[in-house]
Amino acid sequence: MANQWRGVITEYFDRLDIAPGTKIITLGEGGTPLVHAPALAKLVGAEEVWLKVEGMNPTGSFKDRGMTMAVTKAVAHGAKAVICASTGNTSASAAAYAAAAGIKSVVLIPEGKITLGKLAQAIAHKASILQVKGNFDDCLVLARDLSENYAVHLVNSVNPDRIEGQKTASFEVVESLGFAPDFHVMPVGNAGNYSAYFKGYLEEFNEGIIKAVPKLWGFQAEGSAPFVAGHPIENPETIATAIRIGNPASWDLALSAQECSQGEFGAVSDAEILSMHRFLSNEVGVFVEPSSATGAAGLFKNSKLGKVPAGAKIVVTVTGHGLKDVGWALKDENGNEVSPTSCSKDAAEVAELLGLEKN
Ligand code: F0G
Repeated sequence: MANQWRGVITEYFDRLDIAPGTKIITLGEGGTPLVHAPALAKLVGAEEVWLKVEGMNPTGSFKDRGMTMAVTKAVAHGAKAVICASTGNTSASAAAYAAAAGIKSVVLIPEGKITLGKLAQAIAHKASILQVKGNFDDCLVLARDLSENYAVHLVNSVNPDRIEGQKTASFEVVESLGFAPDFHVMPVGNAGNYSAYFKGYLEEFNEGIIKAVPKLWGFQAEGSAPFVAGHPIENPETIATAIRIGNPASWDLALSAQECSQGEFGAVSDAEILSMHRFLSNEVGVFVEPSSATGAAGLFKNSKLGKVPAGAKIVVTVTGHGLKDVGWALKDENGNEVSPTSCSKDAAEVAELLGLEKN
């Protein structure tokens, strides 16, 4: 397989905290497209915008970059089972990598609050799944407790191996562009990914590969925005279930990343998220899950506040695939279900229905 992308551990072996000879558990994650998005650049008044399309990872989200590291290390330490708390994507990823490693996975999810697509992934990869009567934050407390007292290895982003793997996205951005963007924008839940991008960019800066670390802009959903409030939120609420998190695990790491990168945190409403979700599908051609549109929605909001310089070159990470959460795509702007019109097999009738002109 001389020409195939080999997954982030092999591709970036020298730049990761991993011992030579370690058996690598990979599904070929990373190497995701950086899609030029002139329609979004025009909308926000920037010179250039690109989307780092993380939905193209093997389980459809950025989690796979961290999970290859976390499960590889777990196996190296002799773990027979991994555990995570999850709003859906981490569990899909943990279950898949555990399956690839031939070990067990246990996933704790907030009852009734993960999308069917993500639940289906965890089931398909034969995870032991428990729905906890509580939110994500409660699940994480429980997962930490179990991993400290029982023979099960924690693979949430409080595990530094996850952040280490996820930092490779920054390397890829710099390699694709040949420079670092002025701003890098993304959705924030636990802020593990935000912290990971910072780590990656900082390493590139320290090695003299880039001239400056991009300003990191992280956006949360309004009903679930502890970084904007400055304190944990007890009952987070948003339609963006992936980032429905009130007590971010990477609080301190994220605050120092924000400060050092001269970045900022902001919040957008569910309506703004859904509107950007539609824009990305309709005008850019990239189908993401609604939570993943939160970064771009925040960028648009900041542009209306005059915060986007005309010459800015911006990368926006869209974190998860649209097929994970199809419900919102099946509704129109007014919230009504969309279903295709039925038609006969007669070409003239169908052409009339479609308003096609005769040639
Ligand atoms: N976008 C998506 C699609 C996510 O699934 C998550 C987190 C985030 C953004 C935020 O990333 O937590 O590193 O700030 N999902 C986790 C999960 C919590 O369990 O799948 P973060």
